[in-house]
Amino acid sequence: MSTQTDNTSNTPSNDPSPKKGATGWVILAFFIIGFGFSLLSGWVGFPKLLYKEVPHPIDFNHALHMDLVYDGCDSCHYFRKDGSFSGSPTLDECRDCHGFVMGINENEEKFAEEYVLEDKEVPWNNYAKQPDCVYFSHAPHVKGAEMDCATCHGDIGESESLRPYQENRLTGYSRDIWGWNMSRLGEPEYAPRMKMMDCVNCHVEQTDSKGNCFQCHK
Ligand code: HEC
Ligand code: HEC
Ligand code: HEC
Ligand code: HEC
Ligand code: HEC
Repeated sequence: MSTQTDNTSNTPSNDPSPKKGATGWVILAFFIIGFGFSLLSGWVGFPKLLYKEVPHPIDFNHALHMDLVYDGCDSCHYFRKDGSFSGSPTLDECRDCHGFVMGINENEEKFAEEYVLEDKEVPWNNYAKQPDCVYFSHAPHVKGAEMDCATCHGDIGESESLRPYQENRLTGYSRDIWGWNMSRLGEPEYAPRMKMMDCVNCHVEQTDSKGNCFQCHK
């Protein structure tokens, strides 16, 4: 049986051809490993270099407070009479309940001692902060188009703790502007991303605007 197959196949060229194939595979393997390695170092290593984690001044527990306040989210995030949005809460939204040290935990003691009793506003990190050249207003989105906060911010309103805040070392912007994962592989369920095209894509889809620059850049 074996002799028959040997005879029919081309015996002289039988020897070198598998060797050639083998070197081909080795080169291909090296290429794939090298390519994979450079992608990995780009995806995993580069963001580590580019972003630094900035600690929050104090932590804040949304879930806990939602059971305590009267007006839901509006108790702390509301629209003023002129239509502008209050944004991050000031001490005015906390003082009624936090005018003294409750002694619950270090976080609460720090908040009462260093901020409320000193009458010093908390320098909250703003995850979605846009560059100065961008004009954004909450009113047309939340009041006009009745969008949920979670559409753009995720479920922070139900969270028990503020998620990590990372800052781009070069631009000083929040990582939420670029997105947490450029490859978009293995992203968390809500992956915040507010690059220009994310705003524009929704505007093209949901509004009459054709991406007119002056809608967002004044
Ligand atoms: C309606 C009353 C009320 C208001 C308004 C309120 N809090 Fe509280 N807060 C509480 C109570 C009550 C607790 C303690 C709950 C417990 O027993 O664990 C608490 C706990 C805390 C804690 C410690 C809990 C933790 O998980 O670390 C922090 C920090 C805090 N509040 C910050 C704030 C800030 C900032 C504001 C304003 C934006 C605010 N609170 C507004 C009632 C309030
Ligand atoms: C007792 C006050 C209080 C209530 C009530 C409250 N928040 Fe907050 N919220 C805060 C504080 C304090 C922060 C931290 C400040 C910051 O990060 O801007 C915050 C931050 C946020 C942010 C992040 C903003 C950013 O920096 O990008 C969102 C989004 C938000 N809250 C949504 C909600 C929603 C939705 C609800 C209702 C389900 C709600 N909040 C109810 C106090 C409150
Ligand atoms: C269309 C997307 C979108 C929606 C919907 C939205 N936000 Fe925002 N939010 C943003 C952007 C963008 C910024 C940053 C604005 C800036 O830097 O000028 C922001 C900023 C904030 C801040 C920080 C503001 C500051 O000055 O510290 C808070 C707090 C906040 N949003 C809460 C909310 C709450 C609460 C809701 C729901 C009632 C909501 N947002 C709905 C996009 C959105
Ligand atoms: C998920 C959808 C969505 C996203 C994301 C979104 N927008 Fe909007 N935006 C809207 C809708 C809907 C309107 C209301 C349009 C109308 O009333 O005709 C609007 C209105 C506006 C307006 C007011 C336009 C006017 O002429 O009055 C501005 C400015 C604006 N958006 C800027 C932004 C910026 C900047 C971002 C990104 C940081 C953004 N938007 C993200 C849906 C979105
Ligand atoms: C729907 C809102 C929206 C529209 C329309 C829009 N932009 Fe933007 N633009 C943004 C946002 C948000 C950023 C900041 C985030 C980023 O850099 O992607 C930005 C950033 C930029 C930047 C970078 C500025 C910097 O400091 O990083 C340039 C340049 C720019 N836009 C030009 C334009 C031009 C030109 C047009 C019209 C063809 C346009 N944009 C239309 C929202 C918009």
